[in-house]
Amino acid sequence: MDGGPGAGSTDDADAGDAAGGGERLQKVLARIGFGSRRASEELIEAGRVRVNGSTAVLGRRVDPEHDRVEVDGVPVGVRPGLVHYVLNKPRGVVSTSEDPQGRPTVVALVPSEPRVFPVGRLDADTEGLLLLTNDGELAHRLTHPSFGVEKEYLAEVEGTPSPGSLRRLREGVVLDDGLTAPARVSLPAPNLVRISIHEGRNRQVRRMCDAVGHPVVRLVRTRIGPLAERELRPGQWRSLSTSEVRDLGAATGPAEP
Ligand code: URA
Repeated sequence: MDGGPGAGSTDDADAGDAAGGGERLQKVLARIGFGSRRASEELIEAGRVRVNGSTAVLGRRVDPEHDRVEVDGVPVGVRPGLVHYVLNKPRGVVSTSEDPQGRPTVVALVPSEPRVFPVGRLDADTEGLLLLTNDGELAHRLTHPSFGVEKEYLAEVEGTPSPGSLRRLREGVVLDDGLTAPARVSLPAPNLVRISIHEGRNRQVRRMCDAVGHPVVRLVRTRIGPLAERELRPGQWRSLSTSEVRDLGAATGPAEP
């Protein structure tokens, strides 16, 4: 069931709506970057916007703190309390909130309020892009293998992998937890492997390179789905823009995989 007061909704689940509260959906959409209010109304009229799983009609009001809004099946970042940071993780920093060994943590490198957590993990000795957020839904979609979001790494390796080694990396190598899925692999320099994977198993790139006889000397994550940030120095972070958050959400595909 859907529709705002103007549509005669009796949707009990939407307290804001039932009380005539909340904000007009087109206003919320316009604010977060879907164009003018008129353009946002057209999205609603075209049936492309869903609220809490139901197609929205014009007049719909939403509570941006609680309602789940999707455009074309992709959740949009409407909840004002959410923050999303991208950090260039330095080597030697752990991707957990606390470390029993007292090593520095990624969480200590970004603002402490609101509390955020890292989206997936990089090994302590891996560098590069790491997201931190309090957006549990997006974090889940970016890390769960069923959504298949691609992550790209640059691995400096011992020796120069042969075309046969690169083909094995590409087609799949057998690790102790099974065969790896097909990967995109190139060799931009004799001892540098660029590899894009979408599984995210523990120490996967290191184990794959080990398996073909080229241990990793240095590993840097250079891209998470559509997000490739080159300006941040190690230890620096910045907030993602609304459109970057939206593009990351879109990279995870429609709401239900
Ligand atoms: N693969 C690895 O081996 N390590 C990481 O930190 C990330 C991917």
